[in-house]
Amino acid sequence: MKGIIVAVNPNRVIGCKGDIPWHYSEDLKRFKKLTIGNTVIMGRKTWESLPIKPLPERRNIVITSRKIEGVECFKQIKKALAGTVGDVWFIGGAGIYEEALKYADRIDMTLVPDIVNEDDECVYFPEIQKDEWRESSSNKNEENPELMQKIFIRIT
Ligand SMILES: NC(=O)c1ccc[n+]([C@@H]2O[C@H](COP(=O)([O-])OP(=O)(O)OC[C@H]3O[C@@H](n4cnc5c(N)ncnc54)[C@H](OP(=O)(O)O)[C@@H]3O)[C@@H](O)[C@H]2O)c1
Repeated sequence: MKGIIVAVNPNRVIGCKGDIPWHYSEDLKRFKKLTIGNTVIMGRKTWESLPIKPLPERRNIVITSRKIEGVECFKQIKKALAGTVGDVWFIGGAGIYEEALKYADRIDMTLVPDIVNEDDECVYFPEIQKDEWRESSSNKNEENPELMQKIFIRIT
């Protein structure tokens, strides 16, 4: 399985000024539950934004043209994927999601209700093509009904 995991607001914002402009512990809990024990692939800026790095109990891979100490780096997603075993989660940001849509077979999306000031250097999740992806479920988060959990499965 290769999955994308993301939290988006109603305008598809995923981050602003290098950070995520909301905080939901229930979403972090879900993120941990799904990713622990697996490989996570992220962009360099997402790596830089992590308060604790590497993310514990996961194989962390950063996609970057730079050399970063203390974490496995690859210049291209394709090269990184070639050496992975088991489930892989693409955890952002925008550049990673954009390309990962080619490789992923599922998208695990948390829809948050927060409206943010989009003048603040925001980045967005790409639009999902309806002829490539089917929404297989859409449920309220069991612990916080403000959050919607959506799963999309690749159809082509
Ligand atoms: N809401 C969420 O679920 C979520 C999840 C993750 C991150 N975020 C937020 O998203 C923001 C960061 O995202 P971002 O889009 O600005 O940056 P990013 O994708 O995390 O990092 C961008 C950098 O990663 C490398 N990169 C990304 N995609 C690549 C590709 N396809 N091929 C090769 N290299 C690639 C490049 O590194 P080099 O410049 O080093 O070559 C690029 O400059 C932050 O605000 C973060 O908090 C939100």
